[in-house]
Amino acid sequence: GPKNYDASTGYKSKSMLVTPLKNHKNEIIGVLQLLNAQTETGEVIPFSAEYENLVASLASQAAVALTNNRLIWELKEALQTIKALFDAFIKSIATAIEEKSSYTGGHIERVAKLTMMIAKAINESSEGPLKDVCLSEDELEELRLAAWMHDIGKITTPQYIMDKATKLETIFDRIHMLETRFQLIVSLTENAYLHRKLGLLQGGNGDESELSQLDAACAREVQGIGEEFEFVRSCNKGFMDGDKIAHLREIANKTYILDGQAHPYLTEEEFTNLSVRKGTLTDEERKTIENHVVMTWDILYPLPFPHALANVPDYAREHHEKLDGSGYPRGLSGKEIPLQSRILAIADIFEALTARDRPYRDPMKLSKAIDILKFMKQDNHIDPNIYDLFVSSSILSKYAREEMNPEQIDAE
Ligand SMILES: [Fe+2]
Ligand SMILES: [Fe+2]
Repeated sequence: GPKNYDASTGYKSKSMLVTPLKNHKNEIIGVLQLLNAQTETGEVIPFSAEYENLVASLASQAAVALTNNRLIWELKEALQTIKALFDAFIKSIATAIEEKSSYTGGHIERVAKLTMMIAKAINESSEGPLKDVCLSEDELEELRLAAWMHDIGKITTPQYIMDKATKLETIFDRIHMLETRFQLIVSLTENAYLHRKLGLLQGGNGDESELSQLDAACAREVQGIGEEFEFVRSCNKGFMDGDKIAHLREIANKTYILDGQAHPYLTEEEFTNLSVRKGTLTDEERKTIENHVVMTWDILYPLPFPHALANVPDYAREHHEKLDGSGYPRGLSGKEIPLQSRILAIADIFEALTARDRPYRDPMKLSKAIDILKFMKQDNHIDPNIYDLFVSSSILSKYAREEMNPEQIDAE
């Protein structure tokens, strides 16, 4: 109060006019205090009553200014909190997606990192076909969000398809089911021979040579069934050509009798899966995988992005499009594919190629990854200008140093 103030400063408060500062809710948020009214000659006098109104209106203006200031500050803080929350939420979803598959750990974060490195390099380029491209702060943020959410649709992809290691795998690998079935077929076959032997013996006309002929025929047949199963097992992984598919067809068409009913060695669905020529996915499963970009759009489109970020859903959906129109989901070509998606596509492919933690293969050498990208450029799949900038910039060596194993880095 004035007493303490006077004591500490030597000032003498003689007259005083005090008005409370009230906000729109009529809460007192401060006090306007005038001290020591003076005459023209500097003599301290009491405040006259006519000042009270003037000061009261000053006080109300000061209260409005103070309140505004506080609201703006609170709004800024609230916005920052929401932004941080949104960012953290996006990262949680990325974690959830990557939890689904041991094949893609860290993919999303690295794609986002690489995407922004390329975007920055484009902004900084002062020569070449991309020298005039400059993404604004808002556009960079839009691209960053699209990168973090590009695979968000994978949240809906069935887990067994994401990680399908063999052709017969659904929730579990059905090869063991087939193994049991073929063992049953062997037992049924042996049974049939035993019955024939029993018939001969009971009729009293089974001589030694006839019986051993039956044994040999049984052994041959059982061996054949074993070989057929081994062939089926070999089809569960790896390449298939026309001859192998034809042989598989023959085996599938054979039947065994159980409870008086004929059953095929392989069901049509098993045959379809086993005759996949390359990889493990049937056409239908491949479509389900490819559908993740449609799902990405379906998930992102309803979100009320502010105007400056309105293209996030489109940029994310278009990351598997190819310049020649052979990509998915829409088959866009050339300039129909936004620049942002073309950046994202290169980051996505390069990360997938060079990831050092894929359980199914050794980490790829940097030079090989660059070669593959080069072929994709020649095939008119990826943007040649972004590719050229990407391989000639310092991005490669920086990214390689930070995200790849030293053994992978065999090029600059
Ligand atoms: Fe994708
Ligand atoms: Fe991806």
